[in-house]
Amino acid sequence: MTLLPVGATYRRPLKWVFVFLLVFSMVTILYITSPSNTVLEKVNLMYFYEYEPVYKQNYLFTLRERWKCRDIHPFLVILVSSRPKEVKARQAIRITWGSRSSWWGHRVLTLFLLGQDTQRGDNAAELSVEDESILYGDIIRQDFLDTYDNLTLKTIMGFQWVSEFCPSTRFLMKTDSDVFINTPNLVKFLLQQNSSENLFTGYPLINNFAYRGSHKTRSISYQEYPFRLYPPYCGGMGYVLDGKLALRIYELMSHVKPVKFEDVYVGICLNILKVNVSVPEDAEQFFLYKVNFDVCKYRHLIAVHGLAPSELIQFWQDLSSSSSVTCL
Ligand SMILES: *[C@@H]1O[C@H](CO)[C@@H](O)[C@H](O)[C@H]1NC(C)=O
Ligand SMILES: *[C@@H]1O[C@H](CO)[C@@H](O)[C@H](O)[C@H]1NC(C)=O
Ligand SMILES: *[C@@H]1O[C@H](CO)[C@@H](O)[C@H](O)[C@H]1NC(C)=O
Repeated sequence: MTLLPVGATYRRPLKWVFVFLLVFSMVTILYITSPSNTVLEKVNLMYFYEYEPVYKQNYLFTLRERWKCRDIHPFLVILVSSRPKEVKARQAIRITWGSRSSWWGHRVLTLFLLGQDTQRGDNAAELSVEDESILYGDIIRQDFLDTYDNLTLKTIMGFQWVSEFCPSTRFLMKTDSDVFINTPNLVKFLLQQNSSENLFTGYPLINNFAYRGSHKTRSISYQEYPFRLYPPYCGGMGYVLDGKLALRIYELMSHVKPVKFEDVYVGICLNILKVNVSVPEDAEQFFLYKVNFDVCKYRHLIAVHGLAPSELIQFWQDLSSSSSVTCL
């Protein structure tokens, strides 16, 4: 009977040690298993890299225009990311900034990148992508679903196409179907570049935060991208790069885990290749947001984002018929 209180005094601290250990290990387990709130300050993009080419995409070309580039050695290939239903935008580009196959003897090839349509075309009056391909011969397509979250696959397809069917192109531009391009200016701009196999330029986004908010199309999860900042990259509305660099990027893509934003993904690849984004000296050349028509601005710029098909046509006509206007 007299022993009981003695034993109890021993047991009490032991109990608290046990409770402490239990709480400590639970907190540790929680911390380790929930990456959802741990933002990594220091960006280390080798996180996305695998030594084996485990990220090689094996989607098949269903339309590939494999002879399009043969014998012409383009100066510039422009690949336009486009969705199946955007027939009007493709038509507008074909009759405006994508209408010419050469500028001052420099060959320019404009092609559209598509995925597989997610809806069956019920409307028989509508031109199908296959018909369009027969008529214009400018569509590249693979058998992945054409969705917003698959845009990175579309860009990878574009780089694959260049690597397999057009590796001799001097430059490559990737753009979108709501972008106005002053093609002659773009060609002039590229002619002024000194031969650097590391040229990568466009609208630069440097020290951009990874957004985690509720706007679903702009947000990326911590699981997919655990770092606070993105590496330097150029907006997907229009980036231009050296053709040889495009081949190196495609090669690397097989080793780098895709993230949902294609422009960020290309930025990750550049960073691993230790290639810097060149910030254009002239800030009036690439525009991330729509610029209302102004002859002098449009005569000077290279690419502007956010235009409807009717605006592409109107602005192109206005620009072409403005030769009498003088700008400073
Ligand atoms: C991307 O395409 C693949 C292949 O068609 C499809 O299985 C997948 O659901 C698509 N992903 C998204 C996020 O739409
Ligand atoms: C090309 O090189 C020349 C002479 O070295 C230099 O003046 C010019 O700024 C360079 N151009 C570009 C776009 O880097
Ligand atoms: C890239 O930029 C960094 C930092 O500005 C610089 O130290 C490095 O030399 C540049 N690399 C190349 C290849 O120009």
